[in-house]
Amino acid sequence: MRPLAGRKRVTETAAWLNRLAVCKKVRVMKSPTPLIAGNWKMNGLASSIAEAKAVAEGVGATQVRVAICPPCILIDRMSDALAGSKVLVGGQDAHADDAGAFTGDISAEMLADAGAKLVILGHSERREAYREDDELVAKKVRAALRHGLEPIVCVGESLDQRNAGKALEVVTAQVRGSLPPELKGKAFAVAYEPIWAIGTGLTPNNPQIEEVHGAIRATLVEMFGEEAQVVPILYGGSVKPSNAAEILHAREVGGALVGGASLKAADFLAIVRAV
Ligand code: 13P
Repeated sequence: MRPLAGRKRVTETAAWLNRLAVCKKVRVMKSPTPLIAGNWKMNGLASSIAEAKAVAEGVGATQVRVAICPPCILIDRMSDALAGSKVLVGGQDAHADDAGAFTGDISAEMLADAGAKLVILGHSERREAYREDDELVAKKVRAALRHGLEPIVCVGESLDQRNAGKALEVVTAQVRGSLPPELKGKAFAVAYEPIWAIGTGLTPNNPQIEEVHGAIRATLVEMFGEEAQVVPILYGGSVKPSNAAEILHAREVGGALVGGASLKAADFLAIVRAV
């Protein structure tokens, strides 16, 4: 991502090119609005809502989209606490069905009812621990859409898959399998989270990130047409204040999905400001 002032110039240039394009019948696509989302995973108590409030105060009127996805038990209270701020609240998972005998689960409708605007789906921790496959993730995406939630769909390869030279194959297959055609025309994001980079302090280098994000973009355009140029492709996996600027300035990186470093307002704000 370029700094905001730079992006404003780019936006102005794009507007000018679009006017020119009307005459020449050439389409100039907009770039995605950056999204920085915090995934609190199974961390946080009622007292942690103070951190979310500090994020809301710190971001002020930023042009970056900012979201916090706390454990579902906190969504209701956090949505109230952040009402009127720029920070959106999201869920970390949703059941594919709207209601029923599914002990311990939570539906997309319940998340929306509690104030969530987005939902993370297909996180590798759920793919691994709960055997979620692409087909189930696609059903969950449909459930999210039924209730007006913006899905953030996660994809990413394991270290073995990367070492076997299969990263692009694995990730693009996950994109094809997890994103149903109903997403066409809807707001959604894809998060590339290499499993070996999550919580390890390891990160791919920018050429590696750009290669995968480029392949995801090409797949999205193939599936949904040119409008998919504006879908933000987030990077996730050990993003922290010290590496955020470098990662966020890589080509096709439209934001970040942040785990550990989203738990402290100061760290999360530093990442938002690195866009
Ligand atoms: P970490 O930022 O803690 O590596 O977690 C990344 C992640 O899984 C976000 O969904």
